[in-house]
Amino acid sequence: MRILTVLLCVATVLASRPAGAAPPCDARKVAAAARACGELLRGEGRFARDGDAMRRARRVALASDRLAREWTAAEAAAVDATCAAFSASGVDTADRLAAAVADAGASLPGSARCRGAVLGTLAPLCRRVVRSELPLLGDAPGAHDDRQLVLARVRTSLGRALPRTECGGGGPGAADVEPVLLRVAAGALGDATVRSLRALVADAGPEIGVAIEPNEVASDPVYAAALDREATSITAENVMKWGPIHPAPGTWVFGPADEVVARAESQGQRVRGHTLVWGALQLPAYVENASDADTLRAMMAEHIATVAGRYAGRIAQWDVVNEPLPGSLDPPTADGLDDNVFRRLIGPGYVAEALHLARAADPAAKLYVNENGIEVPGPRQDRFFALVQDLLAAGAPLDGVGFQAHLGLIPIGQYPDEATIAASLRRFADLGLSVELTELDVALVFRVGDLPSRLAFQGGYYRSVIAACATVPDCAGVTTWGLSDRHTWLRSFFGFTDWPLPFDDDWRRKPAYFGMRAALLEAALRGD
Ligand code: XIL
Repeated sequence: MRILTVLLCVATVLASRPAGAAPPCDARKVAAAARACGELLRGEGRFARDGDAMRRARRVALASDRLAREWTAAEAAAVDATCAAFSASGVDTADRLAAAVADAGASLPGSARCRGAVLGTLAPLCRRVVRSELPLLGDAPGAHDDRQLVLARVRTSLGRALPRTECGGGGPGAADVEPVLLRVAAGALGDATVRSLRALVADAGPEIGVAIEPNEVASDPVYAAALDREATSITAENVMKWGPIHPAPGTWVFGPADEVVARAESQGQRVRGHTLVWGALQLPAYVENASDADTLRAMMAEHIATVAGRYAGRIAQWDVVNEPLPGSLDPPTADGLDDNVFRRLIGPGYVAEALHLARAADPAAKLYVNENGIEVPGPRQDRFFALVQDLLAAGAPLDGVGFQAHLGLIPIGQYPDEATIAASLRRFADLGLSVELTELDVALVFRVGDLPSRLAFQGGYYRSVIAACATVPDCAGVTTWGLSDRHTWLRSFFGFTDWPLPFDDDWRRKPAYFGMRAALLEAALRGD
């Protein structure tokens, strides 16, 4: 009976979500429903025999006095309406669930005590599933049918819960209970949809961006669908850089960059331009070997005017200068700037000059300088801070600072916590600038532990990183440097075996994805 209670709880609380044209899922209702789930479980199945799904759902909703006090009459009416909608379609689901559970529950092996212990683990599972998944169910644009996602969560939770029961080898194990839960979750969810990251930030919240190679998206419909579904912002991982777009004097390769911009526009996504001036990498030899300051100035002026001019009005932000500091492992220089050809020939003022050129070419774009390794306080962040202060003091048109956030990689093996990242973001925001995490990935290659534990760590860590941005009002967005591990630059560029991104090689959501989603959800619940 207990399993039936628990499962009915899952079913009924899930069913009490707003459906169809009902108001969107309300944060307080969700929290209240999760508590109601707990109440119901503690009630040891008092309501389990109630055959009327509509009344059962209503009772779940109003199971405690506290709950009744917290809900306004309008909310209670909304729940009633939802329950009414559920009763039309959901009774059948609930009945099917009950039958499935009764069947499978009866066939679990082991003593009654062990069976009870195992089934007892389902209570927290119920709460966890309800808490984490219910708010994501909805009919918002961009939502998609994704029961597998919830099933995966159930499976994971169960895997963690079972070893804690008192049952030894003789009792029911995951293999026995899992099919029950999976059937239950599948049935309870019915045709439910799960909100994507994009849908979660639809009304408020930071932009959720992805850096892409247009050919990788064009050749993979699964990638394309995930991108359309999850991202509100797009960055070109390479095709807008100097080398790819302007490989020789007078030679321009705009096709791939045009494709990125057009694709994003067709999906209503913002575009971050990356990058106009980058001394360290992907700079053609004719620029590297420029003979003197005037020649290089003319090249820079032509390049910025042509590239930023071409997309003027269509790019939300430009990383005008990328990585003005020396590499994180390089020795510091006298003026603190990277010893690249721009600084060597033009001098430290090249950064401000580039910003002015970009402003002239695209007055609407927000202009950024973008840097790695500045998420942690210390000399490197201080150098960057001084540079930004100098630029502002000199009247350079600077709107924002990009924190690349190649975490776990720069600095190697370090994972600054939420408070540290938030404080770093605030330090720059306090100068009146926007800030963004522009190239987020979380490297695991330098971390010890087996892969599952590292991936689990990564999930929690993604959550803190997104939370850091979501709690800083001037943090306008977070872009991950790719979407699936199969495309990560940590493999192609460094040759590492790593898994730094929210989707795995086969486009399954990783704990990292759920971490991102949890942080966005928390922000939405707080009303950030
Ligand atoms: C990387 C790309 O991901 C790789 O494909 C390319 O080979 C090298 O550049 N900081 C940046 C990005 O600002 O432009 C870099 O992108 C990653 C580090």
